[in-house]
Amino acid sequence: MKSTRPFHQTPVITIDGPTASGKGTVAALVAAQLGFHLLDSGALYRLAALASTRYHVAADDVDALVKLIDDLHIMFREGLAQLDGADVSSEIRAEAIGNRASAIAVHQPVRAALVARQRAFRKAPGLVADGRDMGTVIFPDAGLKVFLTASVEARAARRHKQLIQKGFSANIDDLLRDLRERDERDSSRAAAPLKPAADAQLLDTSALSVDEAVEQVVQWYQAAQELKASHS
Ligand code: DC
Repeated sequence: MKSTRPFHQTPVITIDGPTASGKGTVAALVAAQLGFHLLDSGALYRLAALASTRYHVAADDVDALVKLIDDLHIMFREGLAQLDGADVSSEIRAEAIGNRASAIAVHQPVRAALVARQRAFRKAPGLVADGRDMGTVIFPDAGLKVFLTASVEARAARRHKQLIQKGFSANIDDLLRDLRERDERDSSRAAAPLKPAADAQLLDTSALSVDEAVEQVVQWYQAAQELKASHS
């Protein structure tokens, strides 16, 4: 029998964009302000990437990657990411893991294996989801879709600061090169390439503070809610 269930009513705000565009920080603060749950979908790809190195699964062995993801024991608790019961929140932030996440994310079956885990985050009172394809593939019915951008130089500077703060060593020229390569791979892949949803609001954060970006997203959300209320 064909399902006639209406679209999920729990509100979702999607925040997509390239690596180091600030989407993670903005998403976490918007979620905190609205009292919503948070999905950092990049962390899921990073956990899968970390597991693939631990269990010696090659980044192009698609069948083995899918099996690994199906059996993955992961958990997010109070902002911490766990793999097999151990906290790996810092480990998954390493550039090598980010690059590997980008490499495994090109495979459509790998992406498909992560869909249900991502949609399971949609719970009352609402969800803020950040990633690359949140608005285009995972939550196409989201009430607000935002696409965050920033110049590659601004992103490299931010990522540099972030890595140093976390105790990793980092070189700005290496970061610029890595970001360009990662952007190219994430945007040119056939499976769910990084691109704004047709109905996404674009937000360039190059010259914005984090607070200004958060305020803009919350304002758009409130405006979308008001519009919805006036139509019902
Ligand atoms: O957002 P991030 O840098 O933590 O993501 C790491 C990699 O994971 C990114 O380069 C591409 C992949 N990714 C993806 O393909 N789709 C997502 N929704 C999130 C991340």
